[in-house]
This record gives sequence, structure tokens and C-alpha cells, in this order.
Amino acid sequence: MAGVKKRNSINEDDEDKRPSATELVETLAQLQLTNKNEGKVLYLQGVKNNWCWRSMCFANQNFRAYYTLQLFNTRLNLTKKAMDKIVDEGCVPRRFFKKVTTVASLGCGPGSDICGLKSFLTETFPYSSRCKQPPSCTGYDSELGWMRYLLQLGLQFESREINESFFNNMEKVDVILMSFSCYEISREFLRDKDGKCSLWKTVSQKAKFVLNIDNAASKARDALPSEKEGFQHFTLNDDLGNKAIVHFKFAVDN
Ligand SMILES: C[S@@+](CC[C@H](N)C(=O)[O-])C[C@H]1O[C@@H](n2cnc3c(N)ncnc32)[C@H](O)[C@@H]1O
Repeated sequence: MAGVKKRNSINEDDEDKRPSATELVETLAQLQLTNKNEGKVLYLQGVKNNWCWRSMCFANQNFRAYYTLQLFNTRLNLTKKAMDKIVDEGCVPRRFFKKVTTVASLGCGPGSDICGLKSFLTETFPYSSRCKQPPSCTGYDSELGWMRYLLQLGLQFESREINESFFNNMEKVDVILMSFSCYEISREFLRDKDGKCSLWKTVSQKAKFVLNIDNAASKARDALPSEKEGFQHFTLNDDLGNKAIVHFKFAVDN
């Protein structure tokens, strides 16, 4: 018995020594950042443009690395904070998340939202079977350059353009995450006469729980989901003091 206890404690110690998602990703980003100045210039252009970057930025290795070093940890924490609030305030039953087996992030970038959700799951269900069987998480992004980041984190990645035909072929999942990506992705979708984007109806049909986070002051405002599509929302401050707007929808029958 004592031997079993000892083995368990060695495993726990080993787990403590494992690098965190942020450490793993930052190590990769440092290696990828061969021209810091280029990355910084492109990053600051987007910050000035209400936190919206052109697609040519995402195609640039130095931009991706610089962006990751600036924002990965902040966005991981933001997703976790949003999830904690949603569950603590009883908006979605905690037990739902115990059974989550499939997660998709749309416009995943370096995968911070998936890591935030995984961190929430690990903390919420620390001693249960939930932790031994992590959900299958896939990041989708049109920019292939993010693949290394997702693989570094042990996540799956598919280089895909998110549009109507993407959803026609997409299997349903338990959770869809969208973090600071709806402004760009929504451009691929039709708008009704009130300007409402068809993206949200389409996304809602593919997951039981949808979480969308964006900058409260960004250009994404017109692209955000609304109560009309069954979404609730609240605001949160990220670690850098920026105000984020969180939209979520829970439809267990999906
Ligand atoms: C501002 S970044 C957000 C990245 C990450 N989710 C985060 O929170 O940091 C937007 C991402 O959406 C991706 N993207 C934009 N339009 C897309 C589309 N139609 N299909 C797939 N990915 C898209 C971009 O390549 C980029 O990685």
C-alpha cells in the first residue's frame, strides 16, 4: 500500500514539473521570432486598428510569434475566467462540462482558448475521471502557420477556411470556441435585412455550448451574436485591462 502511495506522489511531483501550455508555446514562439522588429511593427498596426489584423499579418511567421508572446497567456486566462463565471453563476450546469468529449476552436490562432477551456476543466474536476480522459480538441484556422503551435500543445489542427461549406461538412461537437475571430470569420456569411449575420444560427446547430469572446470596443461589434440568436452576454476585463465581451449559448438538445 505504501508503495502505491509513493508511486502516486512521484506522479504528482512529475506533473508539477511538466511545462505549462504557456511555457510550451512561448518556447516555440521565441524560436520562431527571427525578426522581432517585423513582428512588433505588424502587431502594433493591428492594435492601433482596434485590435484587428489583416490576413497578411497572420501569414507572417514573426507576427504570429510576437502575437503569441503578447497575448497567449492573457487569452488563455480570459477563456478560463469566462468559463468560471458562466458556471459559478449557474448559467450552464457544471455537470455538463464533465461529459464534454469534443471541442472545436474556430479561427484558433495559437490555441489559447482551447487551453483556457482545458485549464477550466482540470480545475473544475480535479480528482474525477474527467481529467484522465481529456476531450478531443481541434483548432481550425485558415492560416497553416498556426499548426506548429497546436501540435506543440498536443492539440489537433486543421487548416480550413471557415465558411458555409465548412459547416455543411462539420460533425457536431460538444463545445465550439471562438476567441477574437468572429469579425474575420463573419465576413464569409450572409446578413439578413437587419444586418444580423447567419454565422450564429449555423454555429449554434453544431454544438451544445458555444462561447464567443471578443474585444468590447473592436470592429467586431456588428458581427457579434445577440439575444435574437439565443445568446447571453457579459463583459470581463483581461489581464492587460482591456474590456472583453463574452457571448455564450447553451442548447443541450443539440
Ligand atoms: C485575431 S486572430 C484570433 C486567434 C485566437 N483565437 C486568439 O484568441 O488569439 C483571428 C484568427 O482567425 C483566423 N481566421 C480569420 N478568418 C478565418 C476564416 N474565414 N477561416 C478560418 N480562420 C480564419 C485568422 O487566421 C486568425 O488566426
